[in-house]
Amino acid sequence: MPTRMTVIGTGYLGVTHAACLAELGYHVVGLDTDEAKVAMLADGRIPFYEPELEPLLRKHIDSGRLRFTTSYADAAAFGDVHFICVGTPQRTDGPAADLRFVHASVESLAPLLERPVLVVGKSTVPVGTARWVADRLHELAPAGTDVDLVWNPEFLREGFAVQDTLRPDRLVIGSDTTSGAARLRQVYQPLLDLGVPLVETDLATAELVKAAANSFLATKISFINAMAEVCETTGADVVALAEAIGYDERIGKRFLNAGLGFGGGCLPKDIRAFMARAEELGVDSALNFLKDVDAINNRRRSRMVDLARTQIGGCFEGCAVAVLGAAFKPDSDDIRDSPALDVASRIAAEGGHVQVYDPKAMDNARIRYPDLTYAQSVVEAGAGANVVLHLTEWREFVAMDPDVLGAVVRHKRIVDGRNALDAARWRAAGWTYRALGRPDVDPA
Ligand code: UDX
Repeated sequence: MPTRMTVIGTGYLGVTHAACLAELGYHVVGLDTDEAKVAMLADGRIPFYEPELEPLLRKHIDSGRLRFTTSYADAAAFGDVHFICVGTPQRTDGPAADLRFVHASVESLAPLLERPVLVVGKSTVPVGTARWVADRLHELAPAGTDVDLVWNPEFLREGFAVQDTLRPDRLVIGSDTTSGAARLRQVYQPLLDLGVPLVETDLATAELVKAAANSFLATKISFINAMAEVCETTGADVVALAEAIGYDERIGKRFLNAGLGFGGGCLPKDIRAFMARAEELGVDSALNFLKDVDAINNRRRSRMVDLARTQIGGCFEGCAVAVLGAAFKPDSDDIRDSPALDVASRIAAEGGHVQVYDPKAMDNARIRYPDLTYAQSVVEAGAGANVVLHLTEWREFVAMDPDVLGAVVRHKRIVDGRNALDAARWRAAGWTYRALGRPDVDPA
């Protein structure tokens, strides 16, 4: 039974996976080539906001089950199972995935593998990558074909990373050898004992499961946002429409919230990478619909800017615009491909005086968008505003008192980009409430 694991790459996925493996009772070494990050993690701190993760990290640094290193030699000597958790961002020169970190980790680790260890790929990769990893491991490792590779995609959501890892909806183990799958099953036995479903596949299917899952989620969001576009021209209400179709269990209510659409470090780049890979494989027509999914998503941002502009008389020049939200979603400080910041910067480019406030993502936003102005609170952002834009549905915003904000703004106008505010309450407090995909006045 393997008990010593390494986790290569300490981003969202890697740190969470490392801490959770320690929680399951294993001894874990986390590896990253970024020395500053390793020093921070070794000190029990994480470089991003994720509820529950930091206490778990500290718990297992203190328990002695978790430590961090920058040395591949250290990791290779330690581990019986190596999890590859490095990032696969979008390439800067196109839509495909940038696999340089996957390549570097395999090329660094493989020559040091002298024992018959198990390597587990968890990064989100284009289909076919796992085959390449297996081949390189066999070519470069002194242990040769005794090194086994399995693919085990990860489905964690930011904001729920720990619970999604310790109680996932399902486990997927892809392998072209039976022994590799059996070894990873043993590692996950504590989760299987809790009744977590397991789907065993070949390598290619496991890679595709992740691309398919994220494509489906993105499609569901863009579907309801396409309905929002139709609602906008017909005077219908997308919130009521989503509720009504969502009662059908075949459709379901989750991921059917119309609004500003999806962002973040996964859905946008994963659907683009999937399309790019399909093109390489000559099956691009199968995924043509994802172009529309992406386009619908981007149109929501333009529509938000248009709606905000209409509220203040057709021009942002010289107008104060309060932007509530910077993170791509609540309970996260992640601003990668954030719809909120995209909207904020487009308005600033049109001459609006934008004041952004977010409970957690201000530091990241300041670094990435230094030209925007930042406020310390909702009230500070709203002071003197010609219009308020609600762009990330933090609980703090959903619960805020319209009268408190109403006392500081110049005009009581709010545009709800997430369909998360209580429209009737805001209107009752004297606000003009507008939202994506909803009629201008509440139905009687
Ligand atoms: C996603 C997948 O959910 C997860 O399984 C995968 O492992 C990584 O990518 P994450 O990026 O953390 O996770 O965010 P998620 O909660 O999926 O939200 C993605 C985006 O969709 C956010 O910008 C969110 O605001 C938006 N969204 C979500 C909607 O616009 N409407 C919805 O109904 C749901």
